[in-house]
Amino acid sequence: MKAAVLKQIGDAELEVRSDVATTEVGPDEVRVRVKASGICHTDLSAMNGGLPALAPGIMGHEGAGEVVTTGERVTHLQAGDRVVLSFVPPCSRCAACLGGQPYLCEVHVVDSFVSPRFAVADEPAFGFAGCGTFAEEMVVPAEAAVKVDDDVPHEIAALIACGVLTGVGSVLNTAKVEPGSTVAVIGCGGVGISVIQGARIAGASQIVAVDPVVAKHDAALRFGATRATTPDGLAEVSREVTGGRGFDYAFEVVGRAATIRAAYDAARRGGTAVIVGAGSQEEKVEFSAQELFVNERNIVPSFYGSADPRRDTGRMVALWRAGLLDLEGMISRRLPLADINDGLAALRSGDNAVVRQIVTF
Ligand code: APR
Ligand code: ZN
Repeated sequence: MKAAVLKQIGDAELEVRSDVATTEVGPDEVRVRVKASGICHTDLSAMNGGLPALAPGIMGHEGAGEVVTTGERVTHLQAGDRVVLSFVPPCSRCAACLGGQPYLCEVHVVDSFVSPRFAVADEPAFGFAGCGTFAEEMVVPAEAAVKVDDDVPHEIAALIACGVLTGVGSVLNTAKVEPGSTVAVIGCGGVGISVIQGARIAGASQIVAVDPVVAKHDAALRFGATRATTPDGLAEVSREVTGGRGFDYAFEVVGRAATIRAAYDAARRGGTAVIVGAGSQEEKVEFSAQELFVNERNIVPSFYGSADPRRDTGRMVALWRAGLLDLEGMISRRLPLADINDGLAALRSGDNAVVRQIVTF
């Protein structure tokens, strides 16, 4: 089959090859034909070594498709089911899962770093983040395939798999933003736009979108932001919107030390900076011991939107059906797998109005 392969960490381009295969379907696994996959910034971060990944590897982790084959012990899925692919599939048995934090389940995540589920020219290859959705087919643990109704378009399902679950989840699950809250969202890519939509759904009274790329501001306003500004205008907007007190919630959706610091500074005393962006191991954020104490600002990381994919996938579909979550509008561009490097380049350059690009199969 065809897949986009990262030959080694640091490569700027993927190689679209047709000599890629999956492993056999194990008893607790399913084979999924990928129908749509979003291109997320995390793929770029992994390619350049900013996030852990193994090479050779198949990139892509925001996917949806159709079940082709099920392993003999799989009872909850059958061939033909439409599924969203989860890169943090809950095992349902570990302490994290039993303790109500399935998004911290490590069982399948750790296994994906030791068990290659692809082969490129007969050599073992890894799926990025336990996925590898830039491929025509994947073999995944059955828990990674979450069923959705047959009328949910694959590209809508794909968006939910990462950006939407992460962004909306960070608002509804992690921060639990209350109606009437003031919110700043730093970084307005696919994940940031999802945070903005989540804040609108939560009933925030003010949603200030922050992005250096002015082309992103229109999108932010379209999806629910009440104001949009470049980073250097944030202090002024904060004075106007919060009387200089700072925001109840400031979401960091870039994944950089400087923007984490900016989110902390944008939150009011007693408010909350929510860290959604996936930063690298190298970047350090500095806080003085005194400011942490005096401001009583919360720093709350949100991993995978603190989501339970089994519960929250259906919730996102319901919000979409109710017209509260605009997912069609987030699709800036559709492209075939052959053009994947074009899509990655557009996301990397960042100087455009791209919200999400979807590879369709
Ligand atoms: N202040 C505010 N926004 C910034 C800044 C800054 N200093 N620098 C960059 N940005 C904006 C970019 O202009 C872009 O609009 O952040 C946005 C990032 O968007 P994308 O590149 O589309 O990334 P996305 O896929 O949304 O992911 C964002 O979330 O899950 C993580 O790994 C992911 O860390 C990444 C983050
Ligand atoms: Zn992602």
